[in-house]
Amino acid sequence: MLLPQEIIRRKRDGQALSLEEIQFMVDGITNGQLSDSQIGAFAMAVYFNSMNGTEATALTCAMRDSGQVLNWDHLNLPGPVVDKHSTGGVGDLTSLLLGPMVAACGGHVPMISGRGLGHTGGTLDKLEAIPNYSISPTSQQFESIVKDVGIAIIGQTGELAPADKRLYGIRDVTATVESIPLITASILSKKLASGLEALVMDVKAGSGAFMPNFAQSKALAESIVEVANAAGVKCCALLTDMNQPLAPSAGNAVEIAETLRYLKGDTSAHRLHQVTKALASEMLLSSGLASSQQEAEDKLAASISSGAALERFAKMVSALGGPNDFVERSELYLPQAKVVKPVTAKQSGMVKQLDCRELGMAVVGLGGGRSVPGAAIDHSVGISELVELGDVVDKGQNLLMLHANDEDAWQAAAKQIQQAIKLDEPSSAQADVNPVYQRIGPC
Ligand code: URA
Repeated sequence: MLLPQEIIRRKRDGQALSLEEIQFMVDGITNGQLSDSQIGAFAMAVYFNSMNGTEATALTCAMRDSGQVLNWDHLNLPGPVVDKHSTGGVGDLTSLLLGPMVAACGGHVPMISGRGLGHTGGTLDKLEAIPNYSISPTSQQFESIVKDVGIAIIGQTGELAPADKRLYGIRDVTATVESIPLITASILSKKLASGLEALVMDVKAGSGAFMPNFAQSKALAESIVEVANAAGVKCCALLTDMNQPLAPSAGNAVEIAETLRYLKGDTSAHRLHQVTKALASEMLLSSGLASSQQEAEDKLAASISSGAALERFAKMVSALGGPNDFVERSELYLPQAKVVKPVTAKQSGMVKQLDCRELGMAVVGLGGGRSVPGAAIDHSVGISELVELGDVVDKGQNLLMLHANDEDAWQAAAKQIQQAIKLDEPSSAQADVNPVYQRIGPC
């Protein structure tokens, strides 16, 4: 007979657990037979002693199967079911771009997204800047939008991977979030439960990333790729830069406005463009929608120039309750902050640091993110037109536009932002670097 305390003891002492023991623990998490303290102790034992690939795969599959596992076979979709997931960043709106782009290229993207966490923004919060956009349609609505439009971005339902919901809540308050096998199982249990054929992971590295250093980000990417492929889903990962916000905008409504600019053909936000193009190409290649990098890039470029990706975005918004004319008249619908003014350089020099975490926290401090779970947020605030690392600015030149809802909040955020941005003597060391560092994986 299996006993939780014996399984926890074995993991505490650094032993590998059997599939049966892992299944027992996940069952106990799901059906309530394990107490919060036992789950916390188990998570801490895994945090300190990790898991091998076989254990991490068993944990992921057991958590995936703890609730509903979507299956798209009965819909006879004409294209593959494919998705992308990011470990989270600042100004990272790639999901809003590549979802409609891949849909326009023939893919079906059932994207279950999350809310902002810490200093990072959340796709669901951004979409909720659109009046009446519903992140919780019925299962039938979700299926029919994925079928007809090709893309639906919604929130996690209670039925998907309930073991993760409970385990994550306990990890959050027991200092056990930063464990590679636990993060792997948490992310993948939800993604694999959405019935994908292929998954592309964007694992962020840098000062604004979730993992503390490049080696750990790489180890996380390798773990996710190994486990997803072992669980039967084609998966590769790109390690991408999060030493500065990915887009020139960070916030909710401002990132939706950035989304529309991009989908309407302005791809001049070049770091955002490079990462979006790389991830979307991997989605097309891994799902068989393109057979070479060039073909993938050509199809993606055509999805923008033809207006097809913008049309998919517009259809998704209206199918999920948003205005039918949102993309044509977005300025009437997106909330605007009352105080929108530039933050300017106090000296001339080259931009040497854009502390992602601090910039993200400045947006949270303005009300664009949460300090208490479930709190309401202010969708109108944020930053836009942000300079990039390596830009040379003159004293008095704009570093960014800051959107706040009153003067005091604007002043407090501007002070925080001045400290997050460091200017110094120009040098050649800051030359333009490709934000896509490395590809990991077989697909
Ligand atoms: N995102 C998740 O869904 N789970 C984790 O453990 C970390 C990030």
